Formats: sequence, structure tokens, C-alpha cells
Amino acid sequence: MKENRIVKLFGIKYPIIQAGMVWCSGWKLASAVSSSGGLGIIGSGSMYPDVLKKHILKCKKATNLPFAVNLPLLYPNIEEHVSTIIEHKVPIVFTSAGNPNTWTKELKSNNIKVVHVVSSVKFALKAELSGVDAVVAEGFEAGGHNGREETTTLCLVPDVVNAINIPLIAAGGIVDGKSMLSAMILGADGVQMGTRFVACKESSAHDSFKNMVLKAKEGDTKLTLKELTPVRMLNNNFYREIVQLYQENASKEKLLKKLGKGRAKKGMYEGDLINGELEIGQASSQIREVYSAAQIIKDIMNEFKKLKQQINIESKFNF
Ligand SMILES: Cc1cc2nc3c(=O)[nH]c(=O)nc-3n(C[C@H](O)[C@H](O)[C@H](O)COP(=O)(O)O)c2cc1C
Repeated sequence: MKENRIVKLFGIKYPIIQAGMVWCSGWKLASAVSSSGGLGIIGSGSMYPDVLKKHILKCKKATNLPFAVNLPLLYPNIEEHVSTIIEHKVPIVFTSAGNPNTWTKELKSNNIKVVHVVSSVKFALKAELSGVDAVVAEGFEAGGHNGREETTTLCLVPDVVNAINIPLIAAGGIVDGKSMLSAMILGADGVQMGTRFVACKESSAHDSFKNMVLKAKEGDTKLTLKELTPVRMLNNNFYREIVQLYQENASKEKLLKKLGKGRAKKGMYEGDLINGELEIGQASSQIREVYSAAQIIKDIMNEFKKLKQQINIESKFNF
């Protein structure tokens, strides 16, 4: 029998990737996920180069299993991040938010597997041409920075599957075994989850933010700031201030000024639920408990396996 392409590519047990997330996914979360059979990712977008180095060293100490670093390609000190990643032999890099042609060759020539995050067929084809090993197709439901096309995971995954030959990881709205199975039925080889792992014991998100995620209901997240970089966040006071600016037909400069510096840190890491930017996905409405990474992965796999078997005997499929 042929092996799952993502499990084979990364040398992991389950095709479950914990997304690299600014302010939420440091070495503790990444190593806990990797130790539990998934692939943990350190989110380097909120780290100074020396901080990233510490996280990589700690992650290596905490697990012998493969882990990755997420490299947002718009990061200002990107050369330093790349040197750190190469020097410390990080085996896998997930690039995002930028042109995959810029760093893929350099990373791959250092024996690093490269995966690029895309939100459309056009960018998936571009990523495949640049030589990446796999893509993450991230739909409109996803938390954090998002594509401009507003294509949902349900529509994006089959379209990208049809367009490319390399393995595909689905992201956006996946939080449990049933959404993972659905994404794989659509054609994905694996899944990436951000929102589920924000509300995780080992995530470095502030407890107040985690608690707000647990209370989120359907409709409580919004995609905004399309003129800058589209981002999905909780509808809090900061979000409503942005809406107010839109109602006043504010210029891009005014929006940039309102966003200012450090909004995401303020909200997600320091727990300022009023003035901070609280990035989270639509599926936060389905999360009701903060669990350890080990428990999350165990629950996902139990549900996934049970549903895979049940699907033939469930009455609703009997027609
Ligand atoms: C709090 C938060 C921070 C994020 N930060 C990043 C990031 O730094 N780089 C990145 O490529 N994606 C980032 N994302 C997007 C995730 O990598 C992932 O693709 C997305 O969360 C998947 O959708 P989901 O939230 O529905 O699981 C972030 C998402 C969240 C929720």
C-alpha cells in the first residue's frame, strides 16, 4: 500500500501540522506537537533573530523528532533568520506571505524541505514552479493573515489539487477529526491547524486571549484590512475602531496609523483584549476547551479513525 505523501515527506506519524503563528507558537508548542506524532512549527514572524535561535535550540533539546520553522517572506531581517535556520539544521521550512522564488533554492540546496502557503490556484502553480516540496492551501476561514480572493477551504482544496502534482496540506477551518477527514476527502494529503492550537496548553498565547477564543461564537471573527494585508480577527474594540475608520472613508495611511506597531503582540501575547489584534479563525466557534497538544492530537486521530470506519454504516449515507 502507498504511504501518505505528507507523512512520508516529513517522516512523521500523522499528517497533522500545527501552524506557525506569531506570538503563539514557540518551541514549547512546536516540540509538544512533534513529540505527539504531528509536525510542530515555530512561528518566526514575531521573533528577533536571537530569539529564533533560542527557540530552535530549545525545540531540538525537547524533541528528537522533525519540526519546522515558519518564515514569513516579508520579515525584515529575513537573511538572519535564514542563516540561523541553515546553521542549526532545521529540517523543514514553511514559507508564507511573499514570493516563493526568493528563498526556495537556497533552502533546498541546504537539504531543507520547503513548503509554501498559498490562497489561490495561481499562487499554488507559482509555488510548484519554484520547486517547493508541498503547498499549504489556506482558505478564507483561516485565522491570521489571509488571501485576497476569499476562496473557502471547501472550494480551494479541490481546485488546487486538480492544478498541481506536489502534495497539498489543507488549512482554514480544520479543528478536529471530522474536518480533517473532510479535507482529505476533498483531496488534501494532510492538514494544518492554527486556531485549534492557539487554545492549547503549550501555546504562548495569553490566557485571556485563549479564554476569549473559547467563548467565540459563529460570526464572531471578521476579515478586514484588505487594503493592507487581509487579516481575520475577533470582533473586539480594536476591530470596531477599524470599522469606524472605513465608515469615514479613511485613507490607507490612516488605516496603517490605526494598526500602528505591536497590535498583535498587545492582544495575543499580552492579553489586551480591548486594544489588541486578536487573530483567530472562524472555527474558533467549535473550540470549548484548552487541552494539551498530546490530547488534541489523540482526540483528532480517534475521531478521524472512528468516522472513517463509520461512514459506511451511518444511516444518512444509506439512500
Ligand atoms: C494567531 C494566529 C497567528 C498566525 N500567524 C501566522 C504566521 O505568523 N505565519 C503564517 O504563515 N500564518 C500564520 N497564521 C495562519 C496559520 O498559519 C494557519 O494557516 C491558519 O491558522 C489555518 O486556519 P485555522 O486558523 O482555521 O486553523 C496565523 C494564524 C493564527 C490563528
